[in-house]
Amino acid sequence: MIRIYYSKTQKEAAEKCANVIAELLKKKKDAVLGFATGSSPVMMYRELINKCEAGEISFEGVKTVNLDEYVGLSADHDQSFSYFMHDNLFNHINIKEENTNLPDGLATDLEAERRRYDGVIESMGGIDIQVLGIGHNGHIGFNEPADSFSKGTALVDLTKSTIDANSRFFESPDDVPRRALTMGIGQIMQAKKIVMVANGTAKAAILEDAFFGEVSPKNPASILQFFKGEVDVFLDEEALSLIMERHPEAVIK
Ligand code: GLP
Repeated sequence: MIRIYYSKTQKEAAEKCANVIAELLKKKKDAVLGFATGSSPVMMYRELINKCEAGEISFEGVKTVNLDEYVGLSADHDQSFSYFMHDNLFNHINIKEENTNLPDGLATDLEAERRRYDGVIESMGGIDIQVLGIGHNGHIGFNEPADSFSKGTALVDLTKSTIDANSRFFESPDDVPRRALTMGIGQIMQAKKIVMVANGTAKAAILEDAFFGEVSPKNPASILQFFKGEVDVFLDEEALSLIMERHPEAVIK
């Protein structure tokens, strides 16, 4: 069931999303969280840091598994997703480093790394909450538009749209990695609950299509319409603009 929550601002959406995660952590000290990168969840991570600093929540017993990593970037490269997670969250909360997991972008045997990450996800015994952003082309994790939905951890070629979108973080578009390892759609769909954060008008059309259009691997996020549990979507007014116009009844204020 998809529940789309209205927020006026990105900050408000981030607070609401962080509250959902905080409520889980208060009940379940050893929760398994699936994390995402990209600019969308940054404010939400800031809220989690604030709650941790205030003693409201603890990550002491929490385990995390991230969606994806660029192939070819080391964990300490400042554009790797490992670096991003440490910089935006892990370095500021009381999580144990050994309880955090990301694919290894520098693995020499990518097939073996793909299988290793399948094992990591499997060993978690179920992701309690998976955080998602959404790409301009509907990708979740790095599951790009394709002819089919990937089941397990996948090695993917990034599309031009993604390379262009992410080039803003690199000195030159040529520096953007061309491939990535990503948790598969099948694994995302096995999470117990999903929360999505997105903001800005650039995401308005793909979000409307994902939640109200046909379910197709051409818009990978559309598979969330078939998710068995709750998908709580936290959008700012800009990201919501088209949904508000076409499906106002679907928006929870
Ligand atoms: C990234 C990640 C996705 C993310 C998306 C959107 O590259 N692989 O998990 O949701 O692209 O990023 P942003 O939030 O910066 O628009």
